[in-house]
Amino acid sequence: MKNIAVIDDEQYICNIIKEALDEFPDYTVYKFTEPEKAAEFIGDNNIDLVLTDLVMKDYSGVQILERTLASHPDAVVILMTGYPTVKTAISVLKKGGYDYLIKPFKLEDLKSTIRRGLELQQVKRENVELRSQMELMHVTDAINKGIKLQPLLNLVVDSAVKVLPAVSAAILLLDRKNGEYNLQAQSNMDTDDSFNSFLRGDISKCPVDFEKGQCGIYNEEFEINGALHRRSYVAFPLVSRGDPIGLLTLVYTDRFNHIAAGQIRLISLLASAAASAVESNYQDRNLQRAYLQTIKSLANAIEARDRYTAGHTDRVFRIARIIVRKMGWSSARLAQLKAGCVLHDIGKIGVPDSILNKPGQLTEYERNIMKKHPELGLKILAGVPFLEEVMPYIIAHHEKYDGTGYPYGLKGEDIPIEGRLLAVVDTFDAILSDRPYRPGRDTKEALDELIKYRGSQFDPVIVDYFMEAYNEGLINSNVIYGKTGLNVGMLNQI
Ligand SMILES: [Fe+2]
Repeated sequence: MKNIAVIDDEQYICNIIKEALDEFPDYTVYKFTEPEKAAEFIGDNNIDLVLTDLVMKDYSGVQILERTLASHPDAVVILMTGYPTVKTAISVLKKGGYDYLIKPFKLEDLKSTIRRGLELQQVKRENVELRSQMELMHVTDAINKGIKLQPLLNLVVDSAVKVLPAVSAAILLLDRKNGEYNLQAQSNMDTDDSFNSFLRGDISKCPVDFEKGQCGIYNEEFEINGALHRRSYVAFPLVSRGDPIGLLTLVYTDRFNHIAAGQIRLISLLASAAASAVESNYQDRNLQRAYLQTIKSLANAIEARDRYTAGHTDRVFRIARIIVRKMGWSSARLAQLKAGCVLHDIGKIGVPDSILNKPGQLTEYERNIMKKHPELGLKILAGVPFLEEVMPYIIAHHEKYDGTGYPYGLKGEDIPIEGRLLAVVDTFDAILSDRPYRPGRDTKEALDELIKYRGSQFDPVIVDYFMEAYNEGLINSNVIYGKTGLNVGMLNQI
């Protein structure tokens, strides 16, 4: 059904036009001879098309045009006048009018102009619908490409806001430990505070049915400057295998309508996309945990075999973490650092006990076997996708800055930063730890070694960060190793 307003201060013109248009069963025609009343009516009702006289006593058709488009941006507005000028016609079209009829006109011309205007409007509205579908495809595509969970949830709330359009949307995920819903993503953070408690999980006004997967809707009406507005609060349950896992909440505001069934269907598709992404992320994380647990057990097995390096990976991680924080690494890189430190010597699994725990110096043959542990480690962990970013720690921690390290003899910044970092920390820890062929040495000797080989064996920048952290008391060898021997004067010379 199309709502049409006809405005002309000549009563008989209004009557003729209404009579002509009443023959179309899908048109509802409202006629007005007083432009102020017409403007008020248009502001308070859903109107598709306005046909207005251009010059009416104190009121102009251009004012009607402006008032109409302010409330209904896609309305078709047709102007009529008995005194046409080119200048007026251009000005009307520039302001967003659809067409311009010169009185007297044939009723057939009027009908065909109205029909064309409404057809164009329909095409535009379908385009809007198409854009909504595109938004949904955008989300589906992102899921298929394996987008990470947080960007995906951000995308879902942004799409929900665009396709409705809504004032704001949020996703909350259920914390399975305490049963609380935590905010995970929200669009338009600067929206009215009164929405926020709803968006953040207070859905008492529109409870959802998790069992049936049904959304909760609460409609309200309110006035702004005397004009009626409508607002819908909608909460969608995110369900996986029949269990609640979260909520998608959104607030929709419209001057004339509450949220429609078609819009609900669109958003429910987004909600189910979010739910399946959350579930698959949960499964991935469980799998990752299981992998990491297995790998940690392997790493523990190495430390158990090599009694001299017990606690080595943990100490290396604690020291390396201090340095990379100084270097400004992100929290995501810090998480990889932990796995890298735990796993960097995993290849020692393939080194025989007789070599690993030999009390004396290794022969050249034995040293060559020992030197294979970075490559062995890489082989052990190859094919575990989420460990790809950990590989540089494993393969490059025995490379030296001047190119004399192994396995590849990489030089300078060709060595991944992860390898350059571990080279410094690993050496520091190795000097302070008891070895099969010698007892652990003191902190001063370890620091002397770092300074001596700064720029040859070690990346000078990382050594500097290390020394800075030590000077600031961040690396406390007394706490970590129960050893002292720091020569502050020496540090100040660096
Ligand atoms: Fe190693």
